[in-house]
This record gives sequence, structure tokens and C-alpha cells, in this order.
Amino acid sequence: MLRVTLTIACLVAACCGPTGLAADAMESAAARGFRILRTRAYLPPDFDQAVFDQLWTNWPAPDRQAARDADLATRRHLTLDHYGLMPDPDAKDPTTVPALGHVSVAGNGWVMNCLTCHAGKVDGRVIPGLPNTHLDLQTLIEDVRRTKLRLFKAPAHLDLVSATLPLSTNRGTTNSVVFGIVLGTYRDKHMTVHLDRRPPRLIHHDMDAPPLWNVRHKSALYCDAFAPKNPRVLMQFMLLPTNGPEKLKSWEPAFRDILAWIESLRPPKYTGTIDETLARSGRALFRQHCSSCHGTYGTTRQYPQRIVPLEIIGTDPTRLNALTAEHRQWMKAGWLSRYGKDPVVLEPQGYLAPPLDGIWATAPYFHNGSTPTLWHVLHPGQRPVVWTRKNDSFDHKRIGFVTKEFDTVPVSVTTARQRRRYFDTTKQGKSAAGHLFPDKLSETEKQAVLEFLKTL
Ligand code: HEC
Ligand code: HEC
Repeated sequence: MLRVTLTIACLVAACCGPTGLAADAMESAAARGFRILRTRAYLPPDFDQAVFDQLWTNWPAPDRQAARDADLATRRHLTLDHYGLMPDPDAKDPTTVPALGHVSVAGNGWVMNCLTCHAGKVDGRVIPGLPNTHLDLQTLIEDVRRTKLRLFKAPAHLDLVSATLPLSTNRGTTNSVVFGIVLGTYRDKHMTVHLDRRPPRLIHHDMDAPPLWNVRHKSALYCDAFAPKNPRVLMQFMLLPTNGPEKLKSWEPAFRDILAWIESLRPPKYTGTIDETLARSGRALFRQHCSSCHGTYGTTRQYPQRIVPLEIIGTDPTRLNALTAEHRQWMKAGWLSRYGKDPVVLEPQGYLAPPLDGIWATAPYFHNGSTPTLWHVLHPGQRPVVWTRKNDSFDHKRIGFVTKEFDTVPVSVTTARQRRRYFDTTKQGKSAAGHLFPDKLSETEKQAVLEFLKTL
């Protein structure tokens, strides 16, 4: 009897097979979440293959010449690189499909998804969940707008928005918190759209996206931990007026799966060598000087999710002040926080000390991305005033970007396009000051802590 039952069970499994209904039911919420991210469009398309293939015509020489002389596949690779779009690591030929951060809608073009900002590349490897520190969103959209004009194609929402609102002033960071404030302004607490409202006062500032693999350690989101961790909060990016309340609400189950995917992520392991003895002494020093805020790692893991007041942390204050009291109150009163059932902090006093898992991979550091390596985090007095990435390689000594450093932006940099490659810490929202705690350590102790940080 048992054998017969087993045989029938096997037959059923074989019939349904991996592509049948059984497989759908078996797909984990996390896998479903990733599939949804990669295949569903929640916004209108930004551009299509024809526009993408003409983007190079906007580039300054000598990049334009190089693209003109290249074959189609090479030119498409150059185009991805030019704007910091990530090639799809699962595609046999990534030049025949949209970038990882875009979803193709049949006959209608390519739609941006979360991975435009939340999938990046470190030491040559593309990793979903890693912040995209190569993305040059402003330059991309400016070139898209110009190309569409030439091809007599209608502008899309980002083309119009970018005419009045900066999308980013530095490669690798975005003004995304301000996008959230703008989108929220035109919704009441039930998510109904009111386009007749007055535009809010905005303080533009660019943010370095955090790695998504740390979300599982948190109960509150963002660098000031003001928002609750729930699927609705993740939908802020979808609050374009064309997405009405009913549509948004019908998407909640999909965003529950997307959150499950986010929480399934784990940090990548360090790709270089580690001096185990040095790292062990670094671990003890870390416990003594850093764990009260950043927690403990390894077998006895603890994470305090501590907010450090601005006067103590001393990093750039712009982000904390730019998120208005009205915006926080709107979230607390409305659908996103389940009408206040999920806690919203109305007056955060500072920034969250984040978990440091995978910290080796997530340069630049601090919420505004002002500090190019872990060595610079540990040497507050030696952080560069202006820096640019020299190339795409990984600095295994200082852990982070390979940079060129300056006292001011070089005079040879004259266009906005060039300036986006120079991080100028004297500008609003870009300060690399603060977090002076490592000053308590001697040089040898800093070396040890740096070695330990590679192990996380
Ligand atoms: C234009 C770039 C951009 C896009 C697109 C984007 N994000 Fe983000 N995301 C950011 C930035 C920047 C932050 C940091 C904001 C802050 O701390 O105030 C962030 C923060 C987050 C956080 C909080 C992480 C933490 O540890 O606190 C989550 C979760 C998140 N994003 C998920 C998403 C999802 C899901 C989508 C797609 C629906 C998305 N993001 C689209 C840039 C982006
Ligand atoms: C009093 C609390 C506190 C102590 C002590 C502290 N930190 Fe931090 N740390 C923070 C906060 C808060 C931030 C976020 C600041 C920001 O982004 O503006 C931070 C950020 C960081 C970052 C950058 C994280 C990122 O994702 O960009 C690193 C690396 C770091 N700390 C390492 C250390 C090390 C190493 C020590 C010990 C020598 C230490 N911290 C001690 C509060 C603390």
C-alpha cells in the first residue's frame, strides 16, 4: 500500500514537474519577490531599446568617437558603463536585454525598478542588494530627454521631473528622499491623489543607498530609522499619481514578497586575504570601542539599533532636517504605516548606527556617501575634501574606492556632467565630518580594527 502511494506521489510530482503548478506553490516568498522585481512594471516606461542605442550620440569626445567606432554589442556595454547601469548577470548576452535595474514591457519600453539603485558592483561582481555606486541617474535622464526630442518620442515622467528637480548631483548617489517627499505631498492619508496641492519646500540632497542585506536586522528603516519596516513603506517609490489607491493596495502582497526577498539577502564574503591574528585583536578592540553602537558579530550576535544624536555623531545634518515634520506626520497618519499601527518616529534626533555586515563591500561610507574607504572612516582627520574614483578597481589596502584626492575641484572640470564625478565635501549635504570615535585608537589599533571589519 505504502509503495503504491509513493509511486502515485512520484508520478504526480513528475507530471507537475518543475514548471507546473506544484513548482509555483513551492516557490518561496523570497524567490517570488525577486521574480516580481525582475518582471513586473510598476511605473511608466522610461525609454526603449531605440533610445538606449542612440544615447552615445550625446557623449563628449573621446567617448563618442569610441562608441561610434565600436560594434553594436561593445557600444551597448559602453552605454551601460557610461551611466553605471548594471548588466544582467543571469543573461547569456547582457547586451540583448535591459539592464538589471529595468523591466521590459512588451512593445512599450523599459521601466525602472528598485534594482537601478539597489543592485551594484564591487570588485567586478554584480550583486543585487548592494547599492549601485556607479549610477549617474541625472546624466542618464538628461541624455534620454535629448535623444527622445531628436527621435520625436514623447517624454516620460522622469524626463519631465528632472527638468525641475535634480535627480542626483554625484555619480552613485541620488536625491531619492526628496522624490519621496514630493510624491507624498500629493496624497492624502488614504493614498487618494490631490494634484491641486501646493508644491512643498524642498532641501535637495543626495543619499548613498544602504545595502539591503541589513534590513533583516532592523525593525525601522532609513538612516534615521523613522519609518517602520513593512511592505507598504517600500511602495513609496510607486506613488506616481498614475498609480491610484486601488492599484497600490492590490500590490501589497507582491511587496510582501519583495520584502521577503530583501530579508533573505546575505552579505558577500570579502574577496581578498585576511590576517586572522590581526583580525582577532581587532575584534576585541571593536567590542570595546564600537559595539555599544554597532553591535556584536559572530556567535553572540546583538544589534542595539541605536540612534546617535546629531551633536554626538557630527555627520552631515542635511538629510535629518530635509525630511519634513509634515512628511513624517503624513506617514504616521496614513495607509503606509497602517494608520499609525506601525511606529513612525516624528522627531528623530540623529542617525542610526547601522549593522556593519558586509561593510567591506559598501564604500562610500556614511549616509551621504562622503567617505571613500574604511581607512578614511578610521582616519577622520585625513578624509579628502574632494575626491573622484580613479578607476573601477577595489582598494584592498584601504578597503573601498581607488581615488584621486584634491583640495578643490580641479579647474579643468567645467561641465555639470564632469562635476558629477567629483565628490565635493564642502557642498550642502556632502560633509565628511563627524564620527570621530576612531580617534581614540592608536595607528596599530586602527589597522587591527580595519582587518576585523573585513571579516563581517
Ligand atoms: C533612485 C534610487 C532608489 C530607488 C529606485 C529605490 N531606492 Fe530604496 N533607497 C534608496 C536610498 C538613497 C535609500 C536611503 C534613504 C534613507 O536612508 O533616507 C533607500 C532605502 C531603502 C530601504 C531602507 C533600507 C534600510 O536599511 O533602512 C529599503 C528597504 C529600500 N530602499 C527598498 C527599496 C525598494 C523595495 C525599492 C523599489 C520599490 C527601492 N528601494 C527603490 C534609493 C533608491
Ligand atoms: C556612539 C555610537 C557610535 C560609535 C561608538 C561608533 N559608531 Fe560607527 N557609526 C555610528 C553612526 C550613527 C553611524 C552612521 C553615521 C552616518 O551615516 O551619518 C556610523 C557609521 C559607521 C560606519 C559607516 C557605515 C556605512 O554603512 O556607511 C562605519 C564603517 C563605522 N561607523 C565604524 C565604526 C567603528 C569601527 C567604530 C569603533 C572604532 C565605530 N563606528 C564607533 C555610530 C557609532
